[in-house]
Amino acid sequence: MKTTDAHKSFIKSPYRSIKFNTYFESYEHFFSKYRNQNITFVEIGVLGGGSLFMWRDYFGPEARIIGVDLNPNAKKWEENGFEIYIGSQSDIKFWEAFKQEVGSIDVILDDGGHTYEQQIITTECLLSAMNDGGIIVVEDTHTSYMEGFGPKSKSFIEYTKKLIDKVNMRCIKFSDYASERRFWSIEVVESMVAFKINKRASSLESELMDNGGIDDLAEDFRYADNPSIEKIKKGIKIFRFIKHIPFAKAVALKLRNHLINRQFSADRYFK
Ligand SMILES: C[S@@+](CC[C@H](N)C(=O)[O-])C[C@H]1O[C@@H](n2cnc3c(N)ncnc32)[C@H](O)[C@@H]1O
Repeated sequence: MKTTDAHKSFIKSPYRSIKFNTYFESYEHFFSKYRNQNITFVEIGVLGGGSLFMWRDYFGPEARIIGVDLNPNAKKWEENGFEIYIGSQSDIKFWEAFKQEVGSIDVILDDGGHTYEQQIITTECLLSAMNDGGIIVVEDTHTSYMEGFGPKSKSFIEYTKKLIDKVNMRCIKFSDYASERRFWSIEVVESMVAFKINKRASSLESELMDNGGIDDLAEDFRYADNPSIEKIKKGIKIFRFIKHIPFAKAVALKLRNHLINRQFSADRYFK
């Protein structure tokens, strides 16, 4: 395994922490830009304190390292210069008080109890606390495919899929009502989902733009590989008067959509 700085910090920690080997690449990918800066980092899940030391080493002395755990014993790590908050990550009121005390946050890593309820409530509660340019990484999201972490239909990954839909609802083609603007993008790697905050980009109003260049009047061949649609298009060209029949356009669009759906040949990729 190629050694990353995150892995070096993990090995250096004087206290125990257990991580999957694949995580170190992902930490490097998500967190490297925040190193050696005056950032606020929050890790949910302290356990034996090992990862607190790892993150202090990795992010450097300017970073404020905050741990959250339900186990009151975790308070002892305050002696080592960490800020520790005791409470449940599935408790909305706990997060309200936490945000009041801690203020805004740059980086969050959720390595807590990994139930869907905990992961979803933590994400929902902490999105409003994020600084621009910040990131929330939810770890061990493979629990979405395991028993014992909540109803699978409401797993963290199912929730993430809904958020992906809502990110796309920012496009002007859809009703803004359902759109998601608290974060800009979602990135998925094995066992982790990251939410990246970019306030400018996520607040942009979607609109169609024309660059004003020369119009080549090129024909769009989008449906040209569907023989049935081509036949209909030819029919409409011959019987131009069809266009003037009330509801003809709506009927033609319905027919077009039906024919596209019928010819769909990518079913095998949904298995
Ligand atoms: C996987 S361990 C954390 C390991 C640690 N990050 C490390 O790498 O060494 C999970 C921790 O989450 C804590 N935890 C479980 N449920 C929690 C909850 N509802 N709220 C806050 N912490 C919780 C547990 O007490 C445990 O210490």
